[in-house]
Amino acid sequence: MKKLIIGNWKMNLSRQEATALATRLAEMGEGKGTLVVCPPAIWLCDVGQVIEKSSVLLGAQDASPHKKGAFTGDIATPMLADAGVRYVLVGHSERRQHHHEDNALIRAKAEAAQSEGLVPVICFGETEAERAAGRQEEVVATQLAESLPETGAIVLAYEPVWAIGTGKTATIEDVDAMHRFIRGWLERNRVDPQRQACILYGGSVKAANAAGILALADVGGVLVGGASLDADEFWAIAQAI
Ligand code: PGA
Repeated sequence: MKKLIIGNWKMNLSRQEATALATRLAEMGEGKGTLVVCPPAIWLCDVGQVIEKSSVLLGAQDASPHKKGAFTGDIATPMLADAGVRYVLVGHSERRQHHHEDNALIRAKAEAAQSEGLVPVICFGETEAERAAGRQEEVVATQLAESLPETGAIVLAYEPVWAIGTGKTATIEDVDAMHRFIRGWLERNRVDPQRQACILYGGSVKAANAAGILALADVGGVLVGGASLDADEFWAIAQAI
């Protein structure tokens, strides 16, 4: 299976910039990894059209746990599926922090995504204070226990909060240790191996540090924020595999 390289554009780029970036990536052709881009929701259809005939796949940054109805401002998973979305980020630390999302809600969002045939990318990771206190494994174990759906395809994204957007990447040893811990946790909790194939790392990934991270056996790919806004840099990350 190819490693998954997901670009999270967050709340960046105009319509013109988003389609231009998608056009560049679509033109780059089949790379070493599977490329997924997660544009702001308002540009999903525009970007979807641009990448439709390319090997780049469409992802969303969030989804409602509800199928439809009186939820002003939210976007339902059937709508995402209709727009050609394949992957949905759920539980990103920025949503946990700014929108007070908890593990139960994240699980509900992941289940809503699965019910539409979308693959939820479940994000989790410890804060700087939690790591300083040596509690990172305990925190991650709780997040996994409470946010993983019982069945169905999932992608996991370990993103230590202190490494997101800070330029501070976890060391290769730290990434390796945590990914081994997650793999062990999944085995101990009897999560079907078919479902646990992909564990991503995220947090200040760039072309310069991607090769070491992607070389780790337990790392199934990377979730990239800032560096995914530049086509050449994002492509270079995928080519670092
Ligand atoms: P970053 O963001 O690469 O800018 O650190 C990663 C993420 O938020 O998914």
